Amino acid sequence: MKLIIFFFCVRFVCSERHTFTIAYTEINGQTIAGFPEISAVTTLDGHQIDYYDSVTKKLIPKQDWMRYASEDIWEEYTEIRERVQQINKINITVLMQQLNQSHGVHVYQRMYGCGWDDETNESDGFDQHGYDGEDFITLDLKELRYISALPQGISTVMKWNNDTEQLELLKQYCDKDRIDWIKYFLTLGKEALTRRVSPSVSLIQKNPFSPVVCHATGFYPSAVNITWLRNGEDHDEDVELGEFLPNEDGTFQKTSTLNIYPDKWKKDQYVCVVEHEGMTIQKNLTEDEIKRNKTLSTWW
Ligand SMILES: *[C@@H]1O[C@H](CO)[C@@H](O)[C@H](O)[C@H]1NC(C)=O
Ligand SMILES: *[C@@H]1O[C@H](CO)[C@@H](O)[C@H](O)[C@H]1NC(C)=O
Ligand SMILES: *[C@@H]1O[C@H](CO)[C@@H](O)[C@H](O)[C@H]1NC(C)=O
Ligand SMILES: *[C@@H]1O[C@H](CO)[C@@H](O)[C@H](O)[C@H]1NC(C)=O
Ligand SMILES: *[C@@H]1O[C@H](CO)[C@@H](O)[C@H](O)[C@H]1NC(C)=O
Ligand SMILES: *[C@@H]1O[C@H](CO)[C@@H](O)[C@H](O)[C@H]1NC(C)=O
Ligand SMILES: *[C@@H]1O[C@H](CO)[C@@H](O)[C@H](O)[C@H]1NC(C)=O
Repeated sequence: MKLIIFFFCVRFVCSERHTFTIAYTEINGQTIAGFPEISAVTTLDGHQIDYYDSVTKKLIPKQDWMRYASEDIWEEYTEIRERVQQINKINITVLMQQLNQSHGVHVYQRMYGCGWDDETNESDGFDQHGYDGEDFITLDLKELRYISALPQGISTVMKWNNDTEQLELLKQYCDKDRIDWIKYFLTLGKEALTRRVSPSVSLIQKNPFSPVVCHATGFYPSAVNITWLRNGEDHDEDVELGEFLPNEDGTFQKTSTLNIYPDKWKKDQYVCVVEHEGMTIQKNLTEDEIKRNKTLSTWW
């Protein structure tokens, strides 16, 4: 789905263009209990910085450095989330009527924000609406009008385009104030956003007969490759790649499990290879390298 892909692709490191995005997601009623009807995620250059939802009604920082942001912005941002939440609530019902849907689970998404180039000082804004994963209404800021991707959106677009006052406001949305906020966040998060932390790698076995897990942890950014070599050659049989997991401190961890018996890996030479940010860390699979649960292994 286009909207989601867009905000995951923006990367800080490779460009001077910065992007500040707020994305709202609404799922209509009678959904799974405990799942928020409305949630909002703010990202800066593709990194999530806060989270809000209609259950907790609190703005939660998602980066350590966000905790140092001023009190004012927390209040202001929480208020904005609450206000947009009210507007969205009306919309999903209106949309269901327009699309002749009487029931079912539907998802409405709005993503808006600003881009700013720190070299040219040029800024621009965007405002995109999606429904059930499809583009619905998009703002064309150059032409200063909204465009509907679906015929059912045309009446809404006509209404919005008629409101020249509101459109002028949108044009100025990414003005000096907003850019000052982007700068403020960038300064606050600079160290965090540009940091590089190498993984620490260990080989773990629950007991002497269980599969060997190659565990890489504490690395940032998240791109990593974990592979195995057998006698110097790529080995991908009996290998199970684990999932990415975030650590408390914003770094990541990932595992790769080698499902073979000790008599096999003691006969051949197996090596776990972890690649991260151009660096390669290798762990030879030997009895000495393996970390085992002390308590468990003595018990065995
Ligand atoms: C969403 O609700 C607001 C406020 O009622 C309204 O101005 C807007 O046109 C609605 N949007 C859609 C897509 O119905
Ligand atoms: C909406 O659905 C009803 C019942 O299926 C149908 O009779 C009606 O023609 C539909 N209206 C539109 C605008 O598609
Ligand atoms: C557009 O705005 C004018 C006055 O501001 C109003 O008379 C007209 O009905 C509006 N048209 C639509 C499609 O909302
Ligand atoms: C950058 O643009 C803003 C208005 O968008 C302006 O207020 C500011 O002075 C400009 N900064 C520089 C360094 O040109
Ligand atoms: C992982 O491997 C692929 C394919 O060999 C390569 O393109 C990519 O750059 C590697 N990623 C890292 C983080 O080393
Ligand atoms: C790991 O194995 C390679 C041969 O595959 C060997 O050259 C290297 O010295 C070994 N490293 C350690 C730390 O034993
Ligand atoms: C070791 O045992 C403890 C307690 O039984 C457990 O929490 C931990 O996950 C185990 N570690 C490994 C590597 O299996």
